[in-house]
Amino acid sequence: MLRDQAPIMPVEIAPGVYGYLAVTYRAVVYLLRNNPHRFAKDPKHWDALNHGQIPPDNPARAMMQPRDNALWKDGPEHARLRSAITESLARVDTHALAASVTQIADQLIDAFASAGQADLVTQYADPLPMQTVMDMFGCSHELSHRAISAVSRLFNAGEDAARANAELESACLELTDLKRRRPGRDVTTYLIAAGLNNAEMVQTILLLIGAAAPPTSSLIANAKRRILTNALLANNVHSGISSVAAAIDDVLWDNPPIHNYCPLYAQGHQIVEGVSLVPGWPILVSFAAANGDPSVLSMPGDRAGNRGHLAFSAGVHGCPAPTLARLIAETALERLLDRLPTIELSVTEQELTNRPGTFLAGLTALPVRFDPEAHPHHHGR
Ligand code: HEM
Repeated sequence: MLRDQAPIMPVEIAPGVYGYLAVTYRAVVYLLRNNPHRFAKDPKHWDALNHGQIPPDNPARAMMQPRDNALWKDGPEHARLRSAITESLARVDTHALAASVTQIADQLIDAFASAGQADLVTQYADPLPMQTVMDMFGCSHELSHRAISAVSRLFNAGEDAARANAELESACLELTDLKRRRPGRDVTTYLIAAGLNNAEMVQTILLLIGAAAPPTSSLIANAKRRILTNALLANNVHSGISSVAAAIDDVLWDNPPIHNYCPLYAQGHQIVEGVSLVPGWPILVSFAAANGDPSVLSMPGDRAGNRGHLAFSAGVHGCPAPTLARLIAETALERLLDRLPTIELSVTEQELTNRPGTFLAGLTALPVRFDPEAHPHHHGR
């Protein structure tokens, strides 16, 4: 176990990229609570990046290099950009959001319902949050299609990542222009009203897409996996004794969608729990290890409704949208249960594999089968 070694230890984050990883609940909370005055978020403090030692195709680079948005700022600049986000997300009509998720869920289910089988990662958990976010931004079908295609090429970090990035930025700018001319009841309009300029709009929309979609996809897939593979939970979910929300809480504790992240940089030489931290090195926090820390672990049965986990991080950079994330995941999972009551895993649990990588949790596939005759059509709600 990593934790048996030290609360914070030196690690190789990605090939040739060195830093620290905080693995106890106490060390993680200490680091997050002392951001930004002792531990800054801005990667301008990252020595290896400043010295040109991180090649452009290193997987750590896409996740850790600075961008001009709230995630990578400290102090007043962070507060200003973040409050534009929190003000805008607070204006989201949650009833309309749930209706939009249900509609997207139905379209996705309709596309595979008659086949009697599906991969719930590529055909449901992955596309649903992305389409939901596009809807929250008030994107037209065509613009949303273009942006989603660019995002998936960007996430796949293929050869045309630079072109995909340029296409995505131009789609975000087009969306901003459109909403400046014709405001709507959507997050793009709310961000404009919060006073962001065009460059800030583009970077903030990109941040929201990147921060919202992948972890919500992972949460949906892993909660569904849990419901499918845990007979007790499956029975409870169907009989209404326990709820989908309990499966979600379990995943947020045991397998948080963002395993390790929030790179921080010591401001001067710092000693935390006896560990000496050299400035200039990134310090990642392990949300996954902290949640599993035996010194805080609640009894498994106590988890439903227990929000003491760190899946949404904490402190000034903590996720501003846990309620929306839960709402999207819960609605998506409820709809799947309503529409496909006979669903079961079509491989053994041991055959399920996780996506590789340091930062994000996620399944590569979740193959299922079901009776195509049992409620294959939705009746509109
Ligand atoms: C299950 C789903 C989600 C999980 C587990 C999650 C988790 C997190 C975590 C751990 C962070 C901190 C990252 C860091 O400091 O490096 C974060 C930040 C953030 N999240 Fe989420 N998130 C989820 C969904 C969402 C959604 C749906 C939205 C927007 C609608 C969102 C928007 C953001 C933003 C804007 C930040 C940056 C905040 C800042 O730096 O001040 N997240 N999230």
